[in-house]
Amino acid sequence: MPTAAQERLIRPARNIYGSLRLPGDKSISHRYAMLGGFAQGVSRFTNFSTGADCASTLACMQALGAKVTQTGTDSFEITGVGGRVTPAAHPLDCGNSGSTMRMISGLLAPQVGSFTLIGDASLSRRPMERIRKPLEEMGARLTLTEGHGPLTIDGASLHSIDYTTPVPSAQVKACILHAGLQASGTTTVRERVRTRDHSELALRAFGATLTRSLDSVSITGPQSLHAIDATVPGDISSAAFFLCAAALFPGSSLVIDSLGLNPTRATLLDVLTALGAHVAVLNIEEKHAELVGTVQITAPAEGLGSTEVSGAVAAQLIDELPVLAAIAPFTSGGVRIRGAKELRVKESDRIALVAMNLRAMGAEVTEFEDGLDVPGGQTLHGTTIDSGGDHRIAMAFSVAALRADGETLIQGAESAAISFPEFFDLLDLVAER
Ligand code: S3P
Repeated sequence: MPTAAQERLIRPARNIYGSLRLPGDKSISHRYAMLGGFAQGVSRFTNFSTGADCASTLACMQALGAKVTQTGTDSFEITGVGGRVTPAAHPLDCGNSGSTMRMISGLLAPQVGSFTLIGDASLSRRPMERIRKPLEEMGARLTLTEGHGPLTIDGASLHSIDYTTPVPSAQVKACILHAGLQASGTTTVRERVRTRDHSELALRAFGATLTRSLDSVSITGPQSLHAIDATVPGDISSAAFFLCAAALFPGSSLVIDSLGLNPTRATLLDVLTALGAHVAVLNIEEKHAELVGTVQITAPAEGLGSTEVSGAVAAQLIDELPVLAAIAPFTSGGVRIRGAKELRVKESDRIALVAMNLRAMGAEVTEFEDGLDVPGGQTLHGTTIDSGGDHRIAMAFSVAALRADGETLIQGAESAAISFPEFFDLLDLVAER
């Protein structure tokens, strides 16, 4: 759980060198915990995410009747409720995790009882209308607090819907699929931009039948799930910080193995390649339909070039955009990001915080409602960074700090533990000074 506010001093580095294996993917861990907690039988997960967000999901599933036993630092055994949760005696605390609040709501809407979901100050500002609308169309009732959490779900027996998501969101897709799993009839979710497909793959792994087309996924309910044993692939969104760091230093070499390489998540590798980094992908395997492999990156001797990110790519790269923007001053031609309005409603307003902190480090940056334009060829100087309590901002600016002149103080550094508690230790391991 996030602890007292902490600051971290980041010294510039000379190079990035080494090999890493990263904790389990946050998105996949959430889904395995929810589906394992909901299924019939005992699931066993290893390399489960060590982040506080996934701990929130485990605690919610436990409060709903699943038996959760920690069997190692990153392994859990979960005995599922067999499709019927116990109404929790207390509100379910989702902490900082939008994924938990949105995706669990879909599991709960078809259940008997009333469920209240709460979160921290950041989560209590995030939009929940996007799940209220489809779940109410299916027959449940959701009471929000001015469009946000805390929210209360009055479960009901649900019917299927055919729903087009108005904003690209894998969490909303997962929420509807969780409800569709238990509703009568065939529920279809249509997406204009294909978002990460971990729910589709995980539901199948737990035994559900789904049909997919290029832009839609359908599930016919009711269906039951059975327990699985799984090893969670390393988190590519956590790897992004190290890949971007390595891309900054000619002479760098970094290898990350057992990394999740699901094509709906691996767009950063294409973007880094477009910027001129040398990226090799080796030893690809499939685990419960998720691709896992080794990534090796070296930086180009001539430095990084330039790139533009917009449309579908912006949606697929949404969690990696802060670090991409943070390293943009060190490219030669800059990075232009558009079509990323969703960044404003993440754990913080990530467009505003990236712009503010880049300016604090002395960079020129243009802010748009839906993106940022960061010119290249700039020098950054060490300063105090306000992470706004947002894990990805704290880590993104720790990476920029490696190439800054002077030392950088990251305020709110404890927030890294939301997704990646090991971040600062691993950074010290591969940063040569
Ligand atoms: C996630 C989807 C994305 C992403 C978040 C995790 C998921 O959110 O930003 O970190 O696991 O489905 P949205 O669904 O809001 O785009």
